[in-house]
Amino acid sequence: MSRIAVVTGGTRGIGAASSKALKEAGCTVAAVYACNEEAAAKFNDETGIAVFKWDVSDTGACADGLAKVESDLGPVEILVNNAGITRDTMFHRMDVEKWRAVIDTNLNSLFNMCRPVIEGMRERGFGRIVNISSINGQKGQMGQTNYSAAKAGELGFTKALAQENAFKGITVNAICPGYIGTEMVLAVPEKVLNEKIIPLIPVGRLGEPEEIARCVVFLASDDAGFITGSTLSANGGQVMD
Ligand code: CAA
Repeated sequence: MSRIAVVTGGTRGIGAASSKALKEAGCTVAAVYACNEEAAAKFNDETGIAVFKWDVSDTGACADGLAKVESDLGPVEILVNNAGITRDTMFHRMDVEKWRAVIDTNLNSLFNMCRPVIEGMRERGFGRIVNISSINGQKGQMGQTNYSAAKAGELGFTKALAQENAFKGITVNAICPGYIGTEMVLAVPEKVLNEKIIPLIPVGRLGEPEEIARCVVFLASDDAGFITGSTLSANGGQVMD
């Protein structure tokens, strides 16, 4: 599939695995990162994938960044909204900064990234948008009212945008990863991870970023044209939605 793909949070974790898998599938990939210069430079050295720096919570930066990608590489045909952060804390201790940071980066970024590319996709009659939500948007998670709200919001956004664009050759789908062995999950206190999380995963282990990347490649492919507005749960059986 020789298409132009943008992956946000594309130089680390699930995003890096998705960028690499899309490249292996034949795409020209732009991997967007926000702040970790060292990881981005290493990723670019190792993979040859172009990296672009902007903050997905910034509406203007997304419009400018996507215009630069399109002038460098061509019209965006595949968009993977993967960038996300956690600011875990119990709600009764949460301040507004932790609330806003997570909603802005994880949910408002979908507006910021999709809005500049949707008109071009409609004109060309083709598009694939894959939103990386989370098991915790499906089931909720203690310590994550902000994250769970944003991730559940992504599912509603996905279904609405899918309906608006189904007749235009554009599919919009969500993937809900469970607990994957990335920096984000490994930042959970070890005792909590070992005693409260892993025992709840029927396959008995954390997932691997590549297992989510394969879902991304499938939903981004031309072959997946009849799948839109769907939620693909990839969580080792932890939640069967
Ligand atoms: N499931 C069940 N119980 C949990 C739990 C969880 N995920 N997290 C914490 N608990 C329990 C603790 O074990 C503890 O119980 P005990 O007193 O019986 O041992 C109790 O809740 C209080 O926990 P803490 O002592 O850790 O309290 P805290 O205020 O210091 O921190 C917390 C609370 C912020 C919830 C912290 O425990 C935490 O970060 N938990 C993990 C939250 C989580 O699952 N985040 C997911 C991050 S990965 C991700 O988001 C990616 C994705 O999409 C899946």
